[in-house]
This record gives sequence, C-alpha cells and structure tokens, in this order.
Amino acid sequence: MTMNVADYARECAARGLRGDYSVCRADFTVAQGYNYSDEEQAVWRTLCDRQTKLTRKLAHHSYLDGVAALGLLDKIPDFGEVSEKLRKLAGWEIVAVPGLIPAQPFFDHLANRRFPVTNWLRTQKELDYIVEPDMFHDFFGHVPILTQPVFADFMQMYGKEADSVIALGGDEMITRLYWYTVEYGLMREPGQPLKAFGAGLMSSFTELQFAVEGGEAHHVAFDLETVMRTGYEIDKFQRAYFVLPSFDALRDAFETADLAAIVARRKGEPALDPAKGLKG
Ligand SMILES: [Fe+2]
Repeated sequence: MTMNVADYARECAARGLRGDYSVCRADFTVAQGYNYSDEEQAVWRTLCDRQTKLTRKLAHHSYLDGVAALGLLDKIPDFGEVSEKLRKLAGWEIVAVPGLIPAQPFFDHLANRRFPVTNWLRTQKELDYIVEPDMFHDFFGHVPILTQPVFADFMQMYGKEADSVIALGGDEMITRLYWYTVEYGLMREPGQPLKAFGAGLMSSFTELQFAVEGGEAHHVAFDLETVMRTGYEIDKFQRAYFVLPSFDALRDAFETADLAAIVARRKGEPALDPAKGLKG
C-alpha cells in the first residue's frame, strides 16, 4: 500500500501536478527552498491582507490566537522559523512538501505531529480559486489552529487511526470526518456567535462568508457517525456545515468512538445527502 517516491513522482507528472516531486525524500518532504520572487511575496501579502479582514470577524478566536502567536503573515513564512514557534507552543512542526502526497505518509506525518505544507504559492491570477492546495491554503488555513492543544491532539490521533480505518474499508468515512472538521468545520460555543475554524474556509474568501454569514448555509450539529456518513462537495460550496460546541467535543468523540464498529455498520451504504435528512 505504501507508494514509493519515484512512482508517485511519475504519477504526479502525468497528472500535471505543479510541484517538483523528483526531489522528494522517502517521507515525501522536500527543502522549502526559500527563494520566492517579489511577485510571489506580493501575492502572499494580498491574500493575507484580504483574508484577514474576514477572519478577524468570522474565525474562531483560537485560530486568531494562533495567528497572533505565530505572527508571520507579512511575508511568506520560513518553515523553520514557524516550526520553532510551533514546537514550543504545541509540540508540532511543519514540513515542506511539493503538494498533495499519498495518504499513508500524510497520516504518518500527522501521527508524529508534523503538518505537511506545500512549498509553492498560487499566482496573481489564482487569488480566488486554485485546483491543488497551495501554501496559502496549507499555511494560512491549517497552521494557526495547530497552536491549540486540544485540536492539535485530535490531529495527531486522526493520523494514528486513519490507516486502520482505511484497512477496514472506511476510506470515504474517515475522509469525510477530516473534510467536515479540519477543512470545513464551524464552531458555536455556548452563548457565542457562530465562527469558523476549518482550513478550507479560512483560505476561501467567498465560502468563509457563505458558511458563517450566508443565510442559505445549512448548519448541522456535529455528530461523529453522521459526519462519517455524509457526502461532500469538492469544487462547490458545501451543502451542509457541521457545528462543534468545542474542540474537546471533537477530540472526545473521536477518542471514545468505536471506529471499527461504525465502519462495519455503515460500509457500503450510500452517502447521506447533506441537503436532506440531517438534523440541524
Ligand atoms: Fe487542507
């Protein structure tokens, strides 16, 4: 099941992926290679300035606390500097990758408290949409929240468990959990307004507003098994967003769930349609 780097590099070249996979190490990491052009630095600042205007009001405070603690949005981050801060704050580090990497090494990085971040950035023409995740998505979206201990622990647990869930046939189910929490998760703490923390939302100018403020977004209370059964959208706005009451609720649900039993119970069922039948 483990794919070697040379095979993966050939596959990525055939698929036209942008990163240079030929220089990957065995764990699919590369050197960040900090030699970004002035134009790339300008794109980074544009993206961060524009998105920060939204995250200030729509992001969960733990994400904003993470941004403040890392304090590196005025220039393309140096991954070594970020890792130094992240290690002290939460025992995590970031590693550079050329883009998407296979599931098994990705989970292995998470299980060892390393988050893979793409080392290249979208162009000026791609400010609003990019097919492959780039550094802005990976860094601006994912990294600040890793400073939060409970969420950071959940991410490690997810990395440790994912392989065994996949081995049982729960590939789609474990992916949906990541999608609806790590990528598109919302949070409403008791007595507090609705906020977002998922990286897909943090790095999207339009969907962040739609998910939190748009009157048409469908909000559903988080339930682990429901999440694992619910289909999702890849290149459209989600038709439902799951709302957590706290990160503790996510970690505790994952830690105490019998994932093998859920997979055994639900394997082969058609995915739930997020627009129908989910309790809000
Ligand atoms: Fe992501």
